[in-house]
Amino acid sequence: MADLSTTYLGLSLKNPLVASASPLSKKLEGIRRLEDAGVSAVVMYSLFEEQITHESLELDHFLNQGTYTYAESLTHFPEMESYNIGPDKYVELIQSAKQAVSIPIIGSLNGISAGGWVDYARKIQEAGADALELNTYYVVTDDQLTPAELENAFIDLVKEIHSKVHIPLAVKLSPFFTSLPNLARRLVEAGASGLVLFNRFIQPDLDIETLDVVPNLKLSTSEELRLPLRWIAILYGRVQADLALTSGVHTGKDALKAIMAGANVAMTTSEILAKGPAAAGKILSEMQDWMKEYEYDSIQQMRGSMSQKAVAEPAAFERGNYMEALRSYDNRLP
Ligand SMILES: Cc1cc2nc3c(=O)[nH]c(=O)nc-3n(C[C@H](O)[C@H](O)[C@H](O)COP(=O)(O)O)c2cc1C
Repeated sequence: MADLSTTYLGLSLKNPLVASASPLSKKLEGIRRLEDAGVSAVVMYSLFEEQITHESLELDHFLNQGTYTYAESLTHFPEMESYNIGPDKYVELIQSAKQAVSIPIIGSLNGISAGGWVDYARKIQEAGADALELNTYYVVTDDQLTPAELENAFIDLVKEIHSKVHIPLAVKLSPFFTSLPNLARRLVEAGASGLVLFNRFIQPDLDIETLDVVPNLKLSTSEELRLPLRWIAILYGRVQADLALTSGVHTGKDALKAIMAGANVAMTTSEILAKGPAAAGKILSEMQDWMKEYEYDSIQQMRGSMSQKAVAEPAAFERGNYMEALRSYDNRLP
């Protein structure tokens, strides 16, 4: 049997397959099933900034009877009472999970502004989480907000959270940055030990009969692997951080590609949501089979072997690849 062990955020993991944030971690039973299926760590579903802010606004409302202080923006959010289980229960769930399973549990905060809500980072740490993932899901719609301002806000947030906790911090990013390597370096300097590439933006659809914007959550396919794969390959060896690949990991080969590009871990959600946690076991055994066939002894041995670390001019390499890809279509013309 090949040695699948790896390290991520200073944690020793028995293999590189991690369950990324999903509804499966909303219940202890789901977390147990993920452990039984063989994943080496579980990222909890996210606690959202809006959930925490809402609770404090609600308290404020009761203290200042008669004044209606809910922020207008909160009206766009799902009913907060019914949204997940609330901040305190979230922390309790991490506590119970730590007692129930022996694999590392990674807490997840989802927000973009610095402020009181980040105190939950410490609460998540106190509950026993082994690390914390910060998800910065944000779609910019303000034409006055410059890229630098947005990036600086993320950096400040990472600095603030880093100053509050001593457990390792990973940042889950979107692919839509003008200079991702620069942002990655600054995030690491601000205190991130890991980068999780990428947040999968869920694109809503339009119902042109009812004039509704329809949330349309489709699970990923292996096709989506290529975007994070490219960026992991570019960043490997260039940023002093562990790398996690999320989006499009459905098979053993997908996970192995992530490792060869340079990831410490491959994360999966869609596959285990579609087929159940046991799908994780299948991915792991496919990895073992492939490594046996191609005579790899360990994950360590293959990590980064297909990265761009050895490429002197990655940008020129990327342009060359692009031109080659366009040219390759010529042969397909009738
Ligand atoms: C139903 C569902 C719920 C999710 N909830 C969260 C969440 O709470 N926090 C988070 O950071 N990512 C969340 N994600 C994103 C996943 O963790 C993952 O990054 C994304 O689905 C891409 O991986 P995949 O291709 O393996 O599905 C969710 C995804 C799905 C499908």
